[in-house]
Amino acid sequence: MPPREVPQVPSAAWLQAVRWVFDPVRYMQDCTQTNPDCFATAISGSRGDRVIFVQQPRILQYLFAHDRRELFAPGDGIAVLEPLIGNTSVVTLEGEPHQRRRRLLLPPFHGERLHIYSDLIAQITRHEAARQPLNTPFRAHRLTQQISLQVIMQSVFGLERGERFEEIRRLLTEVFDTFASPWWSALLYDQRLQRNWGPWKTFLQRRDKLDVLLQAEIADRMAESESLRTDVLSLLMAARDDSGAAMTPLELRNELITLLLAGLETTSTVMAWGLYWIHREPEVRRRVLEELAQVSADAPPSELARLPYLTAVCQETLRIHPPVPFTFVRIPRADLEIDGWRFPQGCRIAGCIYLLHQRGDLYPQPDQFRPERFLERKYTLSEFMPFGAGARRCIGEALAMLEIKVALATLLLNHEFALADSRPERPLRRGVILTPGRGVPLRIIGPGRLSS
Ligand code: HEM
Repeated sequence: MPPREVPQVPSAAWLQAVRWVFDPVRYMQDCTQTNPDCFATAISGSRGDRVIFVQQPRILQYLFAHDRRELFAPGDGIAVLEPLIGNTSVVTLEGEPHQRRRRLLLPPFHGERLHIYSDLIAQITRHEAARQPLNTPFRAHRLTQQISLQVIMQSVFGLERGERFEEIRRLLTEVFDTFASPWWSALLYDQRLQRNWGPWKTFLQRRDKLDVLLQAEIADRMAESESLRTDVLSLLMAARDDSGAAMTPLELRNELITLLLAGLETTSTVMAWGLYWIHREPEVRRRVLEELAQVSADAPPSELARLPYLTAVCQETLRIHPPVPFTFVRIPRADLEIDGWRFPQGCRIAGCIYLLHQRGDLYPQPDQFRPERFLERKYTLSEFMPFGAGARRCIGEALAMLEIKVALATLLLNHEFALADSRPERPLRRGVILTPGRGVPLRIIGPGRLSS
């Protein structure tokens, strides 16, 4: 039988682009109704190209197992972010230069080295949570953003607290807040809106101020004679490529912003959703607290990351709300036939993480938050892929998982929380990420087991 053509979503391109920005979850759900395996969208706004979304595990398995050989992972998959991250960072490089940069970046994010960050994560979490007043509603997402921001500023940038730290922290928060609503996110998706006025102008001004401070930090660090630092920036500054060349200050700046952008909203969003579900589902909360009660008061924070039920809660959170709903684009080098579908040479394919995680054949009653599924069954990478797979698999996966688990456990050990709003949370676009729409209103209602 000849392979089938991937069906195109029938509605007008402009309407798809609008729905993708303003109502992405319903858009994906509607598309999958008639096309449960894959469909070709027209979501790229002013760029106009079609992207094929795939949510069938067999096709995904093939695509990511053949990444690099039969497929190409272009550097324009996240072109909407170029005004912020520049064009020399790991996400915008492609081919051999991309692989070389990944080889430079991966070591600081893996292995034992990571566990030195767990004390830092616990300490930052305790400090930030202690600033919340008792019995007063606050947005959990704001709290988790501050935790993630400081974890990245200290573990990746190696910034020490002081005037520059506070100024960078303020500017970064403002830069990210530029895209806090779907309306402002539309700016990223449509280059015709990127004019030197209004919110785009404000964004450019904040970005330029931030650049001055980052370049100053890089210059100071380059002037240091000898360094015992273990942060990612120091390791990148010391690294040399195959020809013996070091990264330039501009390359270092672009990489820092990329890591921050990739790691901040993603991780803080998962923590906020995690707090939401733990406090929405009494049985989940009971089991998490029961597990935490077994941890001795003087156990190192890295031990928290090994708790099985807490790990399952984090996996279920990443399943039901993957903050990045799709992988970067992959392009076949020649015509491909996979599982009876034809993917022509040059077409643009993205793994649709959101729809994959909603498949009823993999996750019965997918709308229900059930961490137990991850204790009852082991999912393969093509069935559960919140961090993508293959040539562009997330570099920060291990750091993110460590941070989410240690921060959630530290919050629950030190405080007793309750939801401050009983209405269900819905995902809302913030830039390229889906975040909890109301930011998860919470209250601290008492001390936790370990609060002093
Ligand atoms: C819960 C947190 C996170 C999630 C859900 C997440 C998800 C993803 C996804 C889906 C991709 C694309 C993978 C693909 O196309 O196959 C990606 C790429 C990437 N992520 Fe993450 N990420 C998270 C945290 C982080 C952190 C903490 C960092 C670093 C500080 C980071 C750095 C990166 C980088 C640099 C890439 C691009 C890799 C490349 O182009 O080769 N991410 N991430």
